[in-house]
Amino acid sequence: MKALAPHLQSFSGKRILVVGDVMLDEFLRGDVKRISPEAPVPVLEVRSRDHRLGGAANAAANVQALGGNATVIGLVGQDTEGDVVERLLREGGLGASLVRDAARPTTRKTRLVARGQQMVRADSESREPPQNEALTGLLAAIDAGLANADGCILSDYAKGVVSPAVASHLLAGAAKRGIPVVVDPKHRDFALYRGATVITPNQSELELAAGSPLPNESAILAATERLLPLLGGGAILATRGADGMTLVRPGLAPIHARATAKAVFDVTGAGDTVVATLALSLATHVPFEDAIILASVAAGVVVSKEGTATVTPDELREALHEV
Ligand SMILES: Nc1ncnc2c1ncn2[C@@H]1O[C@H](COP(=O)(O)OP(=O)(O)OP(=O)(O)O)[C@@H](O)[C@H]1O
Ligand SMILES: [Mg+2]
Repeated sequence: MKALAPHLQSFSGKRILVVGDVMLDEFLRGDVKRISPEAPVPVLEVRSRDHRLGGAANAAANVQALGGNATVIGLVGQDTEGDVVERLLREGGLGASLVRDAARPTTRKTRLVARGQQMVRADSESREPPQNEALTGLLAAIDAGLANADGCILSDYAKGVVSPAVASHLLAGAAKRGIPVVVDPKHRDFALYRGATVITPNQSELELAAGSPLPNESAILAATERLLPLLGGGAILATRGADGMTLVRPGLAPIHARATAKAVFDVTGAGDTVVATLALSLATHVPFEDAIILASVAAGVVVSKEGTATVTPDELREALHEV
């Protein structure tokens, strides 16, 4: 697949607007030596507290790692976690236009980890759609962002930002300017994403939209064909873990890209790598057939790394030579 490597040069500097649910992943690590006197639970003696960008911000980090120029638009609360998100975005060299919403906390997933073993996860979030100033702030940020974008990602993690008002504003604005939009969907009704260039449901997201289990390839193909009209001309890229990914477009035969991972270490965040690679490819006018191979090989690199990871053009170039 090394014939695809020249595309990677043109990713450099491409401006990708990433709209969606920004999250903060928090890890409290330490040791457990005793049981609490207050309740029959272990006491974690915290030795370290780490923060990572998650959700839409991780999709943006993937764009940036591939040489693109990402700008993140989303909501954070008026809290210290919101400050941490802004600092991490700055440190990662990512552009951002975050709206501070007094009506919600910053979306945060806190893991308590004892000697490498996760004990419990605590989530702080509000899934309410944005309203009032938060909504007008988001729509204004989208308008400003679209004026300087080569491509868009709509990163839906079902934490509220991707409401009908926000999704339709982005999709209509992008269509008017001829900017491709890649959607990572979480909502069961794909009509929310009408106007998208491509949406990338995984197995469970596709089953949710189809309303039934999809145990094999033919069930997946039948479901995608049935759901396709909801998008008004857009494509569905069904991502299927170790089974690779299948692209379904109106009026064209489905095409498949196999999974290429040499070793699988941690599959977390592979979906963010897929949308980032697709958005950069479409912004660069790479044909769909090539874009899904790039996305698949990029995902293969990140699943072979520990934790939520990203991939650089050099790593992707090397992997393309090997498949
Ligand atoms: N176990 C695996 N082996 C090989 N490749 C994999 C594996 N899991 C994921 N991938 C690669 O990553 C792509 C996206 O993975 P998947 O379909 O699991 O998306 P996802 O569920 O959205 O991921 P995420 O955990 O980021 O939400 C797959 O199409 C494939 O290319
Ligand atoms: Mg996903």
